[in-house]
Formats: sequence, structure tokens, C-alpha cells
Amino acid sequence: MLEGTTIAVTSGKGGVGKSTVSANLALALSRLGKKVALIDLDVYGFSIPKILNISDKPKTMNGKMIPIGYEGMGVMSIGFISKGNEPIVWRGPMIGKVLEHFFNDVIWGKVDYTILDMPPGTGDIALDMHQMLPNSKELIVTTPHPNATHVAERAGKMAQKSNHDIVGVVENMSYFTPPTNQDERYYLFGKGGGEALASSLNTEVVASIPMSIPNEDGEVPAIATETSNLFEHYNRLARTIDRKLSVPTNE
Ligand SMILES: Nc1ncnc2c1ncn2[C@@H]1O[C@H](COP(=O)(O)OP(=O)(O)OP(=O)(O)O)[C@@H](O)[C@H]1O
Ligand SMILES: [Mg+2]
Repeated sequence: MLEGTTIAVTSGKGGVGKSTVSANLALALSRLGKKVALIDLDVYGFSIPKILNISDKPKTMNGKMIPIGYEGMGVMSIGFISKGNEPIVWRGPMIGKVLEHFFNDVIWGKVDYTILDMPPGTGDIALDMHQMLPNSKELIVTTPHPNATHVAERAGKMAQKSNHDIVGVVENMSYFTPPTNQDERYYLFGKGGGEALASSLNTEVVASIPMSIPNEDGEVPAIATETSNLFEHYNRLARTIDRKLSVPTNE
């Protein structure tokens, strides 16, 4: 059984950075000393194994699965139980079974926060999740672009209809700051979309995360380490969320 506070990271629109934010937020909460579980619920487009570069399969003990350990947190992904990179063909009820399995039949131990990386859209999985975890909080990720905020608003309204608290909006890819001039901000996808979305959902923007700057090798690692321009942004997001939800640390 899962203890603690569950935060579902949703967006409505695909490709806005849910998985990236989920993984980095989970790690940042872990750095705060919290016990964290990260669950990838994107049945068709699981990406947490790739983001964290995990290729191990979870072991089982007495019919229960043991999550994969990563930097002190426990991780589960639909990808861990699929073969290689092959897609899994699901029927609706099977997805519900998998959710149940992940929540109930995995040895999670003591957990302060569970971060759920949700699939895009407001489909079956979101509905199942809402039913199974009625106390789950929602963190809505959007880019500042109206196309993204418009769809995110629908996801947010759905959360409200099912009485789920929205903990806030993360505006991702908010702006670009060139490494040569830290004072400049280029608003590549427009400005103010996150604020507008937050006010329509009666919540607030809990983070504005800029574009990631490539490292010396020209790569943009999905996980922000200390040298990344995003590292402090994720640390701040974790502190903000922890303050808002004031979850005591599980000893
Ligand atoms: N702040 C950022 N700066 C630069 N690139 C980013 C940023 N956030 C996310 N990305 C990149 O954008 C792409 C999409 O991100 P991600 O997979 O996290 O989105 P998603 O919302 O989970 O997508 P899906 O809907 O397919 O699950 C990835 O290549 C990711 O590395
Ligand atoms: Mg994703």
C-alpha cells in the first residue's frame, strides 16, 4: 500500500515536460530528505526508464514487486514490465489492474511523496487514478503557449470536478536565457500562459522553468545535475511544494 502524499503530474497536452518535471521533482524532494516513490503511469509512452537510464527489471518477493532504487528513491514504470522497447497492447480494464498492482502489490516501504508521471490527455488512466487515489494532489505542467494552456485547463477542470486539489501550475520552457547574458530572457512560446491558466483554476504558478542549456558536450541531459541551469529551479519547486503540502518527513 502507498503511504504519504501523492502528486499526479498532468498536463492535458503531450510533450510539455511532464516526465522531465516528474523525475526532477522526485529527485529534488529526495534531496530534501524526503522518501520518494516515482511511478510512471504512461502506459503507451513510458519514458522514465529512458530518462533515468534504468534497464533493470524489478525483482519479485512473495508475489510482490520490489521497486528499482535510484538515488534513494523507489521507481516503477510500465516500461519495466514490457519487453525491450515494444509497445504494450492494453485493454481498458487491464490498465486499471496495472494501477492497482502498482499501488497495492509493490513493496514501497515508508514513503513521504509519490510522484505519478501521468500520460497526456484526460482519458481512462486519469479517471482510474482519480477513483483509486481520491486524495491525490495534481501538479499541472504547461508551456506558456495558448495551445498547451488551453488543453491543460481541461485537465485542471477535470481534477476539480473529481475534487482533487491542484497544488499549482508549473510553467515549463517558460523562457530562454543565453549563458552569455544571464539578465536576458527570450519568451520563445509567449508570455503569461502559466499565470492565466493558474488564475482560471484558482491556483498559482509554483515554478517557471526556463529552457535547459546544453552542457559542454552539447547534450541536454533530462536530469538536472548541479551544473545544470535548471538544478536550482527544481530545488525551489520541491521546497515550494513541500511547504504548500507540509508533509512531515517519515522516519
Ligand atoms: N525546460 C526544458 N528545456 C529543454 N527541453 C525540455 C525542457 N523540459 C522538457 N524538455 C524536453 O522536451 C521533451 C518532452 O519532455 P517530456 O518527455 O518530459 O514531456 P511529456 O509531457 O512527458 O511528454 P509525453 O506527453 O509524451 O509524455 C523531451 O525531449 C525533454 O527533454
Ligand atoms: Mg511523459
